[in-house]
Amino acid sequence: MNPTEGNGPGVHDWAVVPLPDTTFDPLPHRLLREEPVARVRLPHGEGHAWLVTRYEDVKSVSADPRMSRALTVGRPITSMTPHTLAPAGGVGRADPPDHTRLRKLIAPTFGRRRMTALREHTERMAGALALSTLRTGPPADLAETFVGPLSATVIAELLGVPAADLDRVEAWRAGVLSHDTTAAEGESVKKEIAGYFADLARHRAARPGDDLVSELAAAREAGGISTPELVSMTVMLTLNGLDAVRNIVSTMVYVLLVHPEQTAKLRADPARLPRAVDELLRFIPQRGGVGMPRVATADVEVGGVTIREGEAVFVFYPAANRDPGVYTDPDRLDLDRDEAPHLAFGHGAHYCAGAQLARMEAEVMLGTLLDRFPGLALAVPPDQVAWRVGTVNRGPETLPVTW
Ligand code: HEM
Repeated sequence: MNPTEGNGPGVHDWAVVPLPDTTFDPLPHRLLREEPVARVRLPHGEGHAWLVTRYEDVKSVSADPRMSRALTVGRPITSMTPHTLAPAGGVGRADPPDHTRLRKLIAPTFGRRRMTALREHTERMAGALALSTLRTGPPADLAETFVGPLSATVIAELLGVPAADLDRVEAWRAGVLSHDTTAAEGESVKKEIAGYFADLARHRAARPGDDLVSELAAAREAGGISTPELVSMTVMLTLNGLDAVRNIVSTMVYVLLVHPEQTAKLRADPARLPRAVDELLRFIPQRGGVGMPRVATADVEVGGVTIREGEAVFVFYPAANRDPGVYTDPDRLDLDRDEAPHLAFGHGAHYCAGAQLARMEAEVMLGTLLDRFPGLALAVPPDQVAWRVGTVNRGPETLPVTW
């Protein structure tokens, strides 16, 4: 692409092209090498923004208190979707002290201790789903029979969303996390979800259970969180718990199946699984395009470029994870890799709140599959696996396997 195309000189147009499997988006791949702090224009919104791709630069921007999320609210910053994914009041669009207050409220639910306790229960559920898949198949669509239901049940139980409501939530998920949803449709779906979670919080305030919505409802009574904040938080947690985990773990299974030699070694020594999960997180470009921008509150130098006060900046974590200055042969999967920690969960204050949960679920699911399905293989040639198109998170539409 010619850098003089787009909105003025030096601005790269970044189209949202659906990419299959783990194919890396060519524009950020090139910018990482040639122009690590570049200006880009995305398909929606106005103007252009900075795109930062190098590992060290991505870390410095995401940990810099001069880079604000709150200042993105109400600005028509160039974006991947016609509607704003993260609502104002959401943890992703808050700065300290609001951000710190909101993160503290959910920290115990997603902390290490709680995850250790939840692991055994998740293993039992994974075992039961594996057994029913074994009884019905082969072939089976693992995204449908195993990864999807497990990730949905885990997040629903943590939050206190009744299992009977999951189909409705799933339909909203598809509406919100699509690049094709118009601004009006996006707003209307988000209003429906908001109404649903506001009702759920009202019920839980009256009759609390052992779940996060009950805890947040109690915090609201005590003045620790407002209703819009509570709604944004629960929506964000639900959509991430459903969508991010389903897509990335399904993709992890796919990647393992197309790398049989490395997977055989992993099967022979399951103690290597946590490291393998981290390498899969590094290797898989989980998003179509970038996430949420930040706005500079002062002139900030990044990688030799001055980002002016008021300008919008995106970091691209998947590119940082492929930085050739940090990782040897970065585009190669190496389940034994032991290099710099990846940035798949972000960095700094906005580091993914569900990282421990996602890691635990990935380890349990992959561990169960490797253990229960010794002959697991794709049921179709790799290039015939269908990939989701026009979605924020990348992942297989279906994952047909045999054993
Ligand atoms: C493997 C799956 C997942 C990946 C790769 C992932 C990745 C990320 C990334 C890159 C960020 C943004 C960091 C930033 O804004 O700079 C983020 C934020 C967040 N994630 Fe995740 N995530 C995953 C799963 C989850 C799950 C399961 C949950 C909760 C149920 C979750 C909840 C959140 C929340 C609440 C934030 C906003 C944090 C904040 O702004 O302070 N994520 N995640």
